Amino acid sequence: MRPNCDFPLLMSLICCVALSGCEATAEGIPYLDKQKIFAGKILYDSNCASCHGVALEGQPNWQKRSSTGYLPAPPHDETGHTWHHPDQMLFEFTKYGPQRYAGADYKSAMPAYEGKLSDEQIWNVLAFIKSQWPEEIQKQHTEAFSQK
Ligand code: HEC
Repeated sequence: MRPNCDFPLLMSLICCVALSGCEATAEGIPYLDKQKIFAGKILYDSNCASCHGVALEGQPNWQKRSSTGYLPAPPHDETGHTWHHPDQMLFEFTKYGPQRYAGADYKSAMPAYEGKLSDEQIWNVLAFIKSQWPEEIQKQHTEAFSQK
């Protein structure tokens, strides 16, 4: 039988997925780091709270698109769906805006923070957000998506 030349590549891909350790997800939300959480809270208050709420509660009727086609800001607490998404997606959503996922002409009030916040600052904001979730939700999110 001829050996399968693709085998090493295939194996490394499988390992990569199995460990969910591809470079893109290497960092993860540092939600147990008190200093990062503290730095993230300050950034959250001045950059995100005006829409997502000081207590992460979001805007009223956040699931209902307005007549002009815009969604209100969703909550980032356990009543929203932020915790249903992997770390890397939350990071990219914040850095590049919803258009990254919904297409270039998607209408949204959510700004892209590329050039306004550094990568580290974005991870810190996400650390603050995740630190506010009940322990059970943090655990579910970590088990589903993170590496640590
Ligand atoms: C001007 C209002 C506004 C500001 C400021 C804002 N957002 Fe948003 N954000 C939104 C809206 C509106 C959505 C819903 C996206 C859409 O239009 O479909 C959203 C969605 C999100 C989502 C996706 C949530 C999910 O469950 O899918 C994340 C993550 C997010 N915002 C993070 C942030 C962070 C972090 C900041 C601050 C650095 C921030 N946003 C600042 C309006 C805002």
